[in-house]
Amino acid sequence: MPGHVPVLRQEAVRLLVTDPGGTYLDATLGLGGHSREIVAALGGEEARVIAMDCDPAAVERARANPPAPPHRFTAVRGRFSEIDQVLGGLGITGVHGLLADLGISSDQLDDPARGLSFAQDGPLDMRLDPSLPMTADAWIRGTDDRALEAALQSYGELPRARAATRAIRRAASEHHPLTTRTLREALQPIYPGPSRPRRIAQAFQALRIAVNHELEELSALLEIAARVVLPGGTLCVIAYHSLEDRMVKTAIRPPRPMDAWVEPTPSPWVPLTPRPIRPSVEEVRLNPRASSARLRAARRKETGS
Ligand SMILES: C[S@@+](CC[C@H](N)C(=O)[O-])C[C@H]1O[C@@H](n2cnc3c(N)ncnc32)[C@H](O)[C@@H]1O
Repeated sequence: MPGHVPVLRQEAVRLLVTDPGGTYLDATLGLGGHSREIVAALGGEEARVIAMDCDPAAVERARANPPAPPHRFTAVRGRFSEIDQVLGGLGITGVHGLLADLGISSDQLDDPARGLSFAQDGPLDMRLDPSLPMTADAWIRGTDDRALEAALQSYGELPRARAATRAIRRAASEHHPLTTRTLREALQPIYPGPSRPRRIAQAFQALRIAVNHELEELSALLEIAARVVLPGGTLCVIAYHSLEDRMVKTAIRPPRPMDAWVEPTPSPWVPLTPRPIRPSVEEVRLNPRASSARLRAARRKETGS
């Protein structure tokens, strides 16, 4: 979407593009902000960006309005766990850089029909990929109390997760199907005071992560990246959640010996960001949703090094 400024735009593209004539995978097309910047940084006959998203709406939007020049850009629908098939289908065996800007786009958040925000009423759907079999409403009904409480606690870092679980269960028995409003109203009495909007947002985030298998998908992306990023190429991940950031950090750091007698398995990555890069105060002022962003990058080792 023209005018949309992607998070950590300059920092991500500077780290990602090591060869302006190369092939790059933007695994999270979204509103196309990063793809547009990467295309603009490229030059030469072979240079191209493959932009992927599990949300068909993102792919349709980018195809209708591709970044210039359009011959360097291909938008494809797919999930992180399908990167091998997406690249294979285009005859690509390796990429010079892979970028993932995790989470959801502002368009998805602001669309009441997606059920991702408690600010407006809508069906409690939450699927980023509409081909997934289960909406958040169905997930809640098919999940037992222990798993629901564990999701609220670990994915949402939500205090009073047991009380929240009971409240959600009660609401689910009274409302068929649940909506974002009925879920918000069920949670409100548990979180009085000024922290209430944050707590409700944490509960929504937890359900979204569970419904979209976001941690499993990230784990697949990190595993596939170690194979498809070419030696000397870069992996860049922007995470907004501490669990995701920890997974990225662990995947790219040099291995630590578990036991003094056992050689650790060598890592395919050389970290480029000893500490995560955070948005500037100015970027957060212009885009408050960037406030929790953390960018980590790593260079794929040359074979044999
Ligand atoms: C934060 S947005 C990306 C914004 C984009 N960088 C931009 O500048 O407009 C994240 C996007 O990743 C997509 N996404 C999330 N999980 C995914 C997955 N497992 N596979 C593919 N796309 C995914 C979402 O649908 C969303 O469009």
